[in-house]
Amino acid sequence: MRDLGIIADGAVLIADGKIVAVGTTEEVAKHELATRADEIDCRGAIVLPGFVDSHTHPVFTAPRLIDFEKRTAGASYEEIAAAGGGICASLRGVRDASKEQLAEHVVRAFDEMAAQGTTTVEAKSGYGLSFEAEMKSLEAIREASHQWPGTVVPTLLGAHVIAPEHRDNPEEYVRIVCEEMIPAVARFNSPREEEQIPRRLKSARDDKNTKSNGAAKAAPLRRSGAEGHQQQIRRLAEFVDVFCERGAFSLEQSQRILRTAVEHNLGVRAHVCQLTPAKLLPLMEFHPASFDHMDYVSDEDIAMLAKLDTLATLLPAANYFLGLKSFPPARKLIDAGVAVALATDYNPGTAPTPSMPFVLSVACTHMKMSPAEAITAATYNGACALRLQGRKGSIEVGKDADIAIFEAQDYRELAYWFGVNRCRETLMNGVRCEG
Ligand code: NIG
Ligand code: FE
Repeated sequence: MRDLGIIADGAVLIADGKIVAVGTTEEVAKHELATRADEIDCRGAIVLPGFVDSHTHPVFTAPRLIDFEKRTAGASYEEIAAAGGGICASLRGVRDASKEQLAEHVVRAFDEMAAQGTTTVEAKSGYGLSFEAEMKSLEAIREASHQWPGTVVPTLLGAHVIAPEHRDNPEEYVRIVCEEMIPAVARFNSPREEEQIPRRLKSARDDKNTKSNGAAKAAPLRRSGAEGHQQQIRRLAEFVDVFCERGAFSLEQSQRILRTAVEHNLGVRAHVCQLTPAKLLPLMEFHPASFDHMDYVSDEDIAMLAKLDTLATLLPAANYFLGLKSFPPARKLIDAGVAVALATDYNPGTAPTPSMPFVLSVACTHMKMSPAEAITAATYNGACALRLQGRKGSIEVGKDADIAIFEAQDYRELAYWFGVNRCRETLMNGVRCEG
């Protein structure tokens, strides 16, 4: 994770949304396409693979200011949730909004992320908590992905908390997730019924820790293919997520949900050990792409994870925003050989930030990650957490042209400055987006 593969006086050649050459400016200039390419002058800048924000919750309509103010008065996240705030406080807005209104919020969030260097985003549903509102949330993500040049990976998080109307019978809600939501997503994903809106009951390593190949410095960055290459997501969800936590879903319920997802050919990931310790072994049989949060992960589970290709995605902006004294145990995980990713956790309750550079800052100052480790965790390892490392997360020939250009002389500045945006522009699948 500490070797970024930096090329001084580097250049990148792009055609049709893909990277076709990388090297020193002198080397790349020899490529046959280079003479005809438009040029972006990156002298005095750091050129980085675009950030892969592998954990976000962008489908909500309003900030949670009452929760925020209660916390400033000393209430904890769980106390606020028990008093009617928390995830359920975002539910009404999502249920009442149209798909188009939700998509507008999502696109705005994606644009704010891109302005800070993010080019790939995982986006979860999870504030609708009914079949209709969860499907509408996923459709809004899909709609937003068509309006944004970056890459979007949608995730069903119907299992965020038990919907309030099922609180007396949580099993009924788990049944809705397993027997209605997941099968509907799978039906939509299957080629035959693609494009159809799901209807209720219509019947229904060592990739790890490897280098991010390229902060290229002080170089002209070239491209051709002016309109780039828009990526449109075709599937309603790639992953199913579950909030396995006290007050949300038990280990046993989480197992059932993830098993159902696997049976329906969906990838799985899970929020675990955010507020309390949990045993991860019972969830490992489903080969999650990532376990996220991990504040209370046990030494035993760390040793086990080091042998698997499941990543640990750490979300320290949530710890910052909740005013916690402790942060996810990045050093322990990395030193044990676990592949660690960093993401924003963008959401209205615990992490209202679209900024990956801010996350890098917190990871270095509070978790003692080195700037190079933080950059790898936010690019290549983020791509691994989405199982997209073949296309995303590094500047390599054949990969998607996802690039972020920062005003900086040294890559360490990316994690050094905070509260300021130094991202000059991003390229997403070859499409230029200036800050
Ligand atoms: O990742 N932990 C569960 N989900 C979010 C919080 C959601 C919310 O409070 O709105 C998280 O921190
Ligand atoms: Fe989250």
